[in-house]
Amino acid sequence: MLKIAVLVSGGGTNLQAIIDAQQRGEIINGEIACVISSKTTAYALERAKKAGLATEVLLRKQFATMEDYDAALLGLLEKYQIDLIVLAGFMTIISDNIVSHYPNQIMNIHPSLIPSFCGDGFYGLHVHEAVLEKGVKVTGATVHFVNEICDGGPIILQKAVEVQQEDTPETLQLRVMEQAEWKILPQAISLFCQGRLEVSGTQVKIV
Ligand code: GRF
Repeated sequence: MLKIAVLVSGGGTNLQAIIDAQQRGEIINGEIACVISSKTTAYALERAKKAGLATEVLLRKQFATMEDYDAALLGLLEKYQIDLIVLAGFMTIISDNIVSHYPNQIMNIHPSLIPSFCGDGFYGLHVHEAVLEKGVKVTGATVHFVNEICDGGPIILQKAVEVQQEDTPETLQLRVMEQAEWKILPQAISLFCQGRLEVSGTQVKIV
């Protein structure tokens, strides 16, 4: 059984989707070992506690340097013997140091079809605002491995969602979550835990 750490900062709806999938037996060969939050007030922590999961809070500002913060995060990941790190709305930058400790073992959910609307500054509602501003007719979500390039790691799964004429950033965000994020994130985790993701360069094959 692979051990999963889910890193959160906010509402935790993606965490909830993973918890629900786990409870339905859909995370094959994996289990959430801990939830790590970058904010004390994240509602995701309540969701984790309700599900009986171990929780940890790690605030960047508690540490003088990035090195100290990384050491604390690595300490937690080692404490729970983590095999897979899932960034589910985690708002603290993961350093290259952490990435090099867990090559192709960190995955992130991004609320657009990468390589569109991604990279620096594209997070949260900003992504959906940019989608509406550009006038694209289709958007979606992407689960990808994390490497040293922001939103640039190998793509694992994507799902398209139609943009509607009357959408606001908020309505679009919710539809992308419901129709794409909450589905493909648990699917990608389960594939990883079954050893079915084969990474070769920038490409991921499902075997
Ligand atoms: C999601 O839109 C996700 O794509 C992005 O941050 C948001 C997190 O939402 N990375 P939640 O905390 O899972 O509800």
